[in-house]
Amino acid sequence: MSSFVSQSVRAIRAAFLDFVDDPFYVPESNSVRYIPDGLLVIENGAIADFGSYDDLQKKYSTVPVTAYPDKLIMPGFIDTHVHYSQYEMIAAYGEQLLEWLNKYAFPTEEKFRDKTYAQKIAALFFDELVKQGTTTALVFATVHPESVDAFFEEASRRNMRMISGKVLMDRNAPDYLRDTPETAYADSKQLIQKWHKQGRLLYAVTPRFAPTCSDAQLQVAGKLLQEFPDVYLHTHISENVKEVAWVAELFPESKGYLDVYDRAGLVGQRSVFAHGIHLTDAEFQRLSETKSTIAFCPTSNLFLGSGLFKIAQAKSIDYPVKVGLGTDVGGGTTFSMLHTANEAYKVAQLQGESLSCFKILFLATLGGAKALLLDDKIGNFEVGKEADFIVLDPKATPLMANRTQGFSARTLENLAQKLFGVMMLGDDRAIYAVYIAGELAHCLAP
Ligand code: GUN
Ligand code: ZN
Repeated sequence: MSSFVSQSVRAIRAAFLDFVDDPFYVPESNSVRYIPDGLLVIENGAIADFGSYDDLQKKYSTVPVTAYPDKLIMPGFIDTHVHYSQYEMIAAYGEQLLEWLNKYAFPTEEKFRDKTYAQKIAALFFDELVKQGTTTALVFATVHPESVDAFFEEASRRNMRMISGKVLMDRNAPDYLRDTPETAYADSKQLIQKWHKQGRLLYAVTPRFAPTCSDAQLQVAGKLLQEFPDVYLHTHISENVKEVAWVAELFPESKGYLDVYDRAGLVGQRSVFAHGIHLTDAEFQRLSETKSTIAFCPTSNLFLGSGLFKIAQAKSIDYPVKVGLGTDVGGGTTFSMLHTANEAYKVAQLQGESLSCFKILFLATLGGAKALLLDDKIGNFEVGKEADFIVLDPKATPLMANRTQGFSARTLENLAQKLFGVMMLGDDRAIYAVYIAGELAHCLAP
């Protein structure tokens, strides 16, 4: 066997955790896959084999192995909603959504008309993402096509699986950030043709949210989706009480917020709606029916005082809605998906629900991949998928080392107990190494 193994094949030996199903619906014993001593075989940036070290070691005896003792390897995190354009204004004091947009977000986004600035921020954004273990994200750029070019150029250099698009906004925003339905259409079309499916990159038609889009603008978004049926739709919905009331005023003929998007043909299985805090029961049902996704962004929802996302309703049995986790920087206060997981737990606690670490980490990995219809490519260690993964250090700090008491866990209960500690106490110090398409992209080792 060994003589058939090509030179480019490499393997990683460690403890591995991933998900093979959704623990919100399937018992954890059937949805969590934990291999205390495993081997992940990588070839050409993809997973060539995966299993227990004992089972695979003979087959790959000539392959170079990198071992990570006392670490835990998981699939790379997937951030289903973040604004790279708001990198600079994270943690802006004192306002809720609509005032916050006017006071902080819009003036910052104006800077992206300058491609050099956009390039600088794109590089910083990706550095931050990678060190936090996020290997895929669905990302708002700005209204400027240059911002999308700068983003995708940097993503392409790093060979990361990324989704983004030009923001569409033609009203209720400063002049300097407004496009028109005509320029929105022409620019988006050109960007789709330039970037969609180039390497690992994918495009999302990105109307900012209903209040900044005229009817004509929403129609343009719908037309783009019809012409390019495999691009995404990425927007915000029902985040803030004042915003929801404003949408009712602006679109009196609509049945509700989601209906504004529905009438324009923007609701479907490739549609990702950020927040969804104030959705009605009927809207949850419609999202379920259409297989749409909600990006749950707990740090943002708390920071902007928006409210508590009804995760239990979204993940109900009767009307299940696909859910991913999002940081929503700069409304969100962290790029860390561990921090985000931590806050997701607290948001559920405030509603009387205790989410297991498995459920939340599912949302951050395979759940996010399913939400983005990318679970044939990323999200777990199935053979053939792209080799994006992170090496977690459960002893990253003295506090974590004490809490986890070494990481070797033999049972699922024991693992859950330790992993919950990692999730609640961890941050970028716990992301020991990050691999993108099989290549080491970040490592804390000196
Ligand atoms: N709704 C419309 N635009 C935005 C934005 O930039 N951030 C958040 N959190 N919500 C929005
Ligand atoms: Zn957002």
